[in-house]
Amino acid sequence: MTTSLLNQLSQIVGQAFSNIGIESSFGKASPSQRRELGQFQCNGALAAAKQVGRNPREIAQEVVTELEKTGLFMELTLAGPGFINMRLNDDFLLGHISEMAEDTYFGCRGEHDSQKVILDYGGPNVAKAMHVGHLRATIIGESLRRLREFLGDDVISDVHFGDWGLPMGLLITEIEREQSDLPYFDANFTGPYPETSPVTVEQLQELYPAASARSKEDPAFLKSARIATFDLQKGREGYLALWKHMRDISIAETRTDFDLLGAQFTEWNGEADTNDHIPEMMARLKQEGYAQISEGAVVIDVAEADDKKKMPPLILEKSDGAVMYGTTDLATIEMRREQHDPDAILYVVDARQSLHFEQVFRAARKCRSIKAECHLEHIGFGTVNGKDGKPLKTRDGGVVRLRSLIEDAIEEARETVTESGMSERFDVTELDDIATKVGIAAIKYADLSNQRMSNYVFDLERFTKFEGRTGPYQMYAAVRIKSMLRKAKEQGLSEGRLQATHDTERNLILALAALPEAVQGAAEKNAPNILCDHVYSLSQEFNAFYHECQVLGETDAAIRASRLRLCAITLRQMEQVLYILGIDVPERM
Ligand code: ARG
Repeated sequence: MTTSLLNQLSQIVGQAFSNIGIESSFGKASPSQRRELGQFQCNGALAAAKQVGRNPREIAQEVVTELEKTGLFMELTLAGPGFINMRLNDDFLLGHISEMAEDTYFGCRGEHDSQKVILDYGGPNVAKAMHVGHLRATIIGESLRRLREFLGDDVISDVHFGDWGLPMGLLITEIEREQSDLPYFDANFTGPYPETSPVTVEQLQELYPAASARSKEDPAFLKSARIATFDLQKGREGYLALWKHMRDISIAETRTDFDLLGAQFTEWNGEADTNDHIPEMMARLKQEGYAQISEGAVVIDVAEADDKKKMPPLILEKSDGAVMYGTTDLATIEMRREQHDPDAILYVVDARQSLHFEQVFRAARKCRSIKAECHLEHIGFGTVNGKDGKPLKTRDGGVVRLRSLIEDAIEEARETVTESGMSERFDVTELDDIATKVGIAAIKYADLSNQRMSNYVFDLERFTKFEGRTGPYQMYAAVRIKSMLRKAKEQGLSEGRLQATHDTERNLILALAALPEAVQGAAEKNAPNILCDHVYSLSQEFNAFYHECQVLGETDAAIRASRLRLCAITLRQMEQVLYILGIDVPERM
């Protein structure tokens, strides 16, 4: 499978242009805006006319005459000043879709050069429960991972844990304040340190805000926390042992969230993993003159001559000697180069961190921390808002935990599912599974179907509906096809050669054939919303077909077999796209 239907068509029309002595690039075809006029259109005659100084309608007429000779079209018409409307003949359409269905990747891999890509997403922090911001990072990141993998890229996914820096010093100091007799704080203790953590993850999640608040009121506390941070980074044993406990229990906690969301990481690295690399990096940056001292801090100047806004320098080391978020990110880039030599590193992180990434990328390029061809990109996203239009908060103004969002979604889904009568048909275990899948599908589709950079309002009631542009609706469309195919199997009916007997079948085939463009566009723009639109158009066209055409009830055996095949192809593609969006389809609903 080499090329999409649209590409093939553009080539055919391009050939017609070239046959009449005009550049073939004018033959670019596009799906018709108005289906009643044709399946595809080409407006190239207008631009061609300008270039060669001829009448556009005449050119279009000559192109149509050329196209007629190919025998590939059911209908060709001219409209307006020189638009060409086209309807492909059934053999061409059916041949294409059969071939596409044979291919594991639906012909989407054709022109894609495989790359080694590192995706950095998720980004939870030690001692802080994952919150609503991490929801988007996880959902978008995972769908881009699946998309890249589908395209044949070699994808490395790194959760990049926030486990270094001042928050760690604050926690150590806070725990010492409460439990100063623990061996971790005794500089003369020679070990071994206890095997289990002195605090639970729930306690940690309370300790952090307490410590952070205290540091703002109490300068002495802040000073101790800074010293603790520095000592930890320089490898003080007791602090490292305590830090490791905090890190381990925090990671274990986030795994539950990631499992629920189906996120798969190949690497569980964090900021702290750069600690051994930082001294050599700093030495090089100083030696080669990239790093400078400014107000007691070590910085890299990343401003460029044509900057419109002021670009602050990237701070590598504060005057107290501790390293920063930018330092660990720069060091991570160098380590990724050494370990993987990637073609691209993509960061799926809240858009509000765009300045940080701009500074880091500039520093990486300036200091040659990565090869020049490596593509570095911050894939930002907007905020999740409450119904008041402001970033989502709990009733008392706190951060909304990711876990509680997921639980609410599943609860809401359980209600919808129960209302729709499913509780009578399924036992508790299956109902649970369905509610979980519906709840997760609801939040994922709602998140991914928006333009990545825009904010959206979190409205579970709307997200869990079984109609419209929702995850549950797409899922239900797939489940219905599954049930039908199961029935067909029970009745001993089999699939057969495709034929087209109704326009709704042709429209469904056209929707299926548009996958390569959707996948291409989604990958180029890092825009899963394009795939959401695609799967929505699939379910719309499928429903229209199903409304007009009998499948199991069709009495002509050949037509029935063809329709069963069309249903099977649709299901396979729907499930594939839903998989990329992170949506699991239950066996029945
Ligand atoms: N831990 C960060 C946060 O919660 C996100 C980390 C993103 N990745 C990175 N390499 N900086 O905001």
